[in-house]
Amino acid sequence: MRQATLLFRQPPMRNSPSLIALASLFAMVQPPLAAHASSEPKVEVFSWWTSGGEAAALDALFNVYEKQYAGVEIVNATVAGGGGSAARPVLQTRLSGGNPPDSWQTHPGWELLGQYVEPGYCEPITDLYKSDGWDKSFPKELVVNLMTKDRKIYAVLAGIHRGNVLWYNTKLLQKNGIKVDNKMSFEEFFAACDKLKAAGIPALGVGDSGIWASAQLFENTLLGVVGPKGWTDLFSGTMQWDDPKVKEAMKLFAKMQDYVNPDHSALSWDQAIHALMEGRVAFSSMGDWADGEFLKASMKEKDDFGWVSHPGTDGSFIIVADGFALAKGAPHKEAALAWLKSIGSKEAQEAFNRLKGSIPARTDVDRSKFDGYHQWSMDSFTKDKLVASCVHGEAAPAAFEQALNDGVTAFIVDKNVDNFANALVRAAREFPSTKQP
Ligand code: GAL
Repeated sequence: MRQATLLFRQPPMRNSPSLIALASLFAMVQPPLAAHASSEPKVEVFSWWTSGGEAAALDALFNVYEKQYAGVEIVNATVAGGGGSAARPVLQTRLSGGNPPDSWQTHPGWELLGQYVEPGYCEPITDLYKSDGWDKSFPKELVVNLMTKDRKIYAVLAGIHRGNVLWYNTKLLQKNGIKVDNKMSFEEFFAACDKLKAAGIPALGVGDSGIWASAQLFENTLLGVVGPKGWTDLFSGTMQWDDPKVKEAMKLFAKMQDYVNPDHSALSWDQAIHALMEGRVAFSSMGDWADGEFLKASMKEKDDFGWVSHPGTDGSFIIVADGFALAKGAPHKEAALAWLKSIGSKEAQEAFNRLKGSIPARTDVDRSKFDGYHQWSMDSFTKDKLVASCVHGEAAPAAFEQALNDGVTAFIVDKNVDNFANALVRAAREFPSTKQP
């Protein structure tokens, strides 16, 4: 795969007010105690991969590890909750209490560098990039921009999800005379929604018991309006969060609420995908971990389900990458290093991503081993504009991500564009590092 251009600026690590704020927050809790190293053949891996598709893919990673490093016991420490909304606070408590898992799931960018590297919870793994030739096989821009601090690299990517995908139930659309081409405008999307509404079908499946899922619908819609250049401008402060274009995206997001399943707040993201499979809703805008659910349920691509870029976002790829980091003072360092080496191996990347819906982060895998969706996403990654996700912790500090989630929660109820925009303007002002030129 050729490397595409990533529209992302690295979190400023020095004199960054947001990081200083984060650091002082961390200083309020206990300083990490030294973890006890042990030579037990064991490794504790922390993640939030518990949905059907996620768990199956994680299992594939474990299987490869067990094959490559026989005899090491894997402790599968998961905390359920899509997007890591429940897992990350648990992890934070463990890290600040000096009780780290050996290795944990993390998004690159602000999440990795701001929440884990800056407070000193991670050990660099730069040597693995040399010993295992990863400096040639992983996309340099992602490694340098999103996972490196002071020339040290802090994570290895298991895979790269595309966040801006609109999934649909093929048969339900056919039944309602709706045809989807290889891209979709907002007008086409709302025309389809109206047809479905007239037929008594909630067009848009949302499962936002974790609010991030609705924030993702907004993130995708925002990109559809501002485009990749606007995205970069927003996260660099060149464009303000109350810009007319942002407000236009908010209005479209408000309009989408008219077509959402009424039980959305009782469902998780994967339950919404299951509602789509069962024909209870027609569309769902969700990252391609949804593909993992389709695969797990043996749904056939094109026949049973289809996909297109979220309206207006054709030509852009929102990166939601999954990395794993090494704990400073990892209780089982040797086994943890082996775990990271294993994740970076071609074998693991092929086995895992085929089930997860993401594409391998390595650029030298055998493409023929992947299905149609993966081929589509690999092509998109190669030729499209790459932007970092805010909802999944890459593009902005955790506090801004939280402000976005809070803004979305309020907006779904009051649909007040000015309130939503002003809240984001305030959040961006409070964390000015998101808007440095
Ligand atoms: C994302 C993560 C994906 C997937 C998703 C839903 O944050 O990167 O791997 O797990 O959450 O849980």
